[in-house]
Amino acid sequence: MPYAHITGWGVSVPEPVLTNDDLAKMVETNDEWIRERTGIRERHIAREDQSTATLAVDAAIKALQVANLAPTELDLIIVTSSSPEYIFPATACLVQDQIGATKAGAFDLLAACSGFIYATNMAAQSIRSGSIKNALVIGSETLSRFVNWKDRSTCILFGDGAGAFVIQASDQPGGVLSAVMHSDGSGADSLTLLGGGARFPANETTVAEGKHYVQMDGKAVFRFATRVMGTATKEALELANVKLEEVDYIIPHQANYRIIETAAKYLKLPLDKFIINVDRYGNTSTASIPIAAVEAIEKGKLKSGNKVVFVGFGAGLTWGALVAQWSGPIPAKKQVHPEQYRLFARLRSWLLRALRFLEGLLSRREL
Ligand code: ACO
Repeated sequence: MPYAHITGWGVSVPEPVLTNDDLAKMVETNDEWIRERTGIRERHIAREDQSTATLAVDAAIKALQVANLAPTELDLIIVTSSSPEYIFPATACLVQDQIGATKAGAFDLLAACSGFIYATNMAAQSIRSGSIKNALVIGSETLSRFVNWKDRSTCILFGDGAGAFVIQASDQPGGVLSAVMHSDGSGADSLTLLGGGARFPANETTVAEGKHYVQMDGKAVFRFATRVMGTATKEALELANVKLEEVDYIIPHQANYRIIETAAKYLKLPLDKFIINVDRYGNTSTASIPIAAVEAIEKGKLKSGNKVVFVGFGAGLTWGALVAQWSGPIPAKKQVHPEQYRLFARLRSWLLRALRFLEGLLSRREL
């Protein structure tokens, strides 16, 4: 049975920064309250010309560059997002087209902030089964588009960004070692975005009632999160047969510094075992774990051979944890340039659209 290794990684974070002081000019809040209750100092907000798909494409290209893998070699693309480009088509299909992943299947996965753990596990299991060799998993968010900027209880929390992993088959032991995924729909009301779906199709009333915004019972989510972070970590470690003492780093979903602190206390681990960057990004939902992982690599913390736990929770309610032995790129003889495929992808996409248009004209004539 092949092993599923994380061989490439990349992030895309929009440049514009919104500080707590900026927020204090928009709603009744202040830097001290936000820092004390959440640990957040600032977050990045997408420019108008950026979206969940554009951030996803940028992160994907960077991950492919690290893995030294051509997009045409990808078998599967999973985009996980709580703020997808559209209800459908899947954001993953837009990414597939724009990066030139000519043979990849593509779909979106919705498990809110636990999405990156779910998606990485799904990709790893597809590889472990032998049915595919190369997968791309992307967590991408522009939650700033779904936040009520007049609601101080939610707008202070979220930020935009994307992170991607390339996962590849290898005979070498290591890579993704275990994962647990959980859900409890009885807590669905705790964190919602109700408008625009089948239950509340978008109309003037849903807009007037603010159903197109994130609604959250912060305290309920907080209590739930502190309960599950530690238990899920232990469960995934047991499944992987890895002891807590062997873990080099825990990379938690970055929602709130206090939630991470509580998890550390439960696990009796020092906070320096946790990768924490919620102060500079806020909660980027599905993107928070890969953004934190890539930052840990760039700071020289996370290295090849390290044992790492990803753990997260989110709307649904969902939660999960994944244990991996960190790998790195598979040595290759030839250098590939995934970014160069974008021009080819654009041409191909244009040609396919033109052909579809011609096909439409011809079939009309036949009728
Ligand atoms: N600035 C100033 N005061 C505020 C603010 C603000 N931004 N927001 C709320 N307050 C006030 C409240 O009105 C309340 O005042 P009151 O006591 O006079 O009524 C007081 O501060 C306390 O409010 P609480 O909501 O009780 O504050 P709490 O300590 O619970 O912190 C928070 C709120 C930060 C949202 C916390 O509950 C939390 O982090 N919850 C988890 C949220 C989370 O992780 N969500 C993401 C899940 S992942 C996903 O799926 C997207």
